[in-house]
Amino acid sequence: MNLVVGATGTLGLAICQRLRDAGQPLRALVRPNSPKECLLRDIGAEIAYGDLKEPDTLDRACRGATVVITTANVMISKRPGDTMKRVDRDGSLALLRAADKAAVRQFIYTSASPKVPANNPFIQYKREVETALRSSRLTWTILQPCAFMEIHAGPATGWNLQQGRARIIGSGLVPMAYIATGDVAAFAVSAVHNANASNRDLYLTGPQPLSPLDAVAIAERVTGLRFKVQKVPVAALKLTRTVLQPMNPILGSLLAMGIASTEYAEGTDMDPLLHEFGVQATTFEQFVRDRIAARASSRET
Ligand SMILES: NC(=O)c1ccc[n+]([C@@H]2O[C@H](COP(=O)([O-])OP(=O)(O)OC[C@H]3O[C@@H](n4cnc5c(N)ncnc54)[C@H](OP(=O)(O)O)[C@@H]3O)[C@@H](O)[C@H]2O)c1
Repeated sequence: MNLVVGATGTLGLAICQRLRDAGQPLRALVRPNSPKECLLRDIGAEIAYGDLKEPDTLDRACRGATVVITTANVMISKRPGDTMKRVDRDGSLALLRAADKAAVRQFIYTSASPKVPANNPFIQYKREVETALRSSRLTWTILQPCAFMEIHAGPATGWNLQQGRARIIGSGLVPMAYIATGDVAAFAVSAVHNANASNRDLYLTGPQPLSPLDAVAIAERVTGLRFKVQKVPVAALKLTRTVLQPMNPILGSLLAMGIASTEYAEGTDMDPLLHEFGVQATTFEQFVRDRIAARASSRET
């Protein structure tokens, strides 16, 4: 049995769908009253009600599971009482203990690119969980993806592919190497019971080390639109972060990651890993085409 924690989120849902497509047994941890519960039932998931803040529910959810995959985090999806410390750190560590108690064979944890500095609580907690996992008795796989195309070239970050709008931090020249969420999900599913994934960090990037301006150029070519690019100065973000961090650590962490993304280049030769895990990479061009086609077909229906 594969337990997915974070199953109602973007990546978690994609993992659930791929597990079912592969004919794998699936249990999804869902918080009560989640609007996504029906969707998960429809794809054939067994539902385990639970919350990372409630260790008893994790013990129950892990019972009989052989693999635990977690993508859960509070960055966007937050309920009253959720904090980064209670969910991302303590909740993930409680899940790890529950998996150990239930003699789970493999624990797949979704972290972030190893290049992202731990200069904010969100990434500090992720690195803490990575360290705990590596020194646990569990067989582990740590997914370390860079920026998701759907988020970093999507409405959440001020992009609109249909209307030709993009928002960029700083010069837009530093490579982000965007990866499609579906490709991260494909790696997660391929890692299940895969000896090649045992006790291994998987740094996951897109097939090309694209910078934000490279991404805009591709989007312009595919859509035929001239994009209006809003450039957010790094200095303004730094100031906002200083003011916001004490009041809103989640937003502060988000801003810290945005600022940091202008200071290091993401990217690696993904060919060996893609080959090893049998994953077909989605190019940024394909991502834009798919988005435009999906929007057009939703307008027709
Ligand atoms: N976005 C990026 O560019 C990027 C890049 C690298 C790595 N990542 C990592 O990828 C992972 C997946 O991201 P995503 O975009 O798929 O996240 P997401 O869509 O925001 O999903 C978050 C999930 O966590 C669940 N969750 C939150 N608090 C919980 C709690 N207390 N108990 C149980 N579940 C809880 C949510 O459940 P509810 O629906 O009940 O709230 C939801 O299923 C994250 O670890 C993220 O840090 C993201």
